[in-house]
Amino acid sequence: MTKTVFILNGPNLNLLGQRQPEIYGRETLADIETACAEVAADLGLATRFFQSNLEGEIVEQVHAARAEAAGIVINPAAYTHTSVAILDALKAFDGPVIEVHLSNVHKREAFRHHSYVSLRADGVIAGCGSQGYLLALQRLSALLS
Ligand code: DQA
Repeated sequence: MTKTVFILNGPNLNLLGQRQPEIYGRETLADIETACAEVAADLGLATRFFQSNLEGEIVEQVHAARAEAAGIVINPAAYTHTSVAILDALKAFDGPVIEVHLSNVHKREAFRHHSYVSLRADGVIAGCGSQGYLLALQRLSALLS
């Protein structure tokens, strides 16, 4: 049976391509979704791609993943640095979790250096731009095989 991976995106990532392109690049979130679907198909994985500006909606997607997903790729965006709620939801998910950041958060402001989600993530990819999502899918595929 084809395994499904949830790809979850946090606040302001809907503005990718327009928002601080010098940091986040010129690709849109739709471009990233298309690239993820292609790579996932090559890996034999199905994907559900989701973005929300609301913390609770991301928590609810993680809850849905408990029944529907084999693994999670998550870019929690600013909630990375603040959300115990997303961390706790991920702790209730049994499969592998890869945390992705487009930018190298460690090269940026000190408040971006701490991630609540990293306390649960099996892997963290930062600073590889949109390619980070594709690397995360490859890693999940290896962990799920
Ligand atoms: C981000 C990094 C976060 O610090 C920031 O709040 C974001 C995007 C990234 O992908 O580089 O919104 O997660």
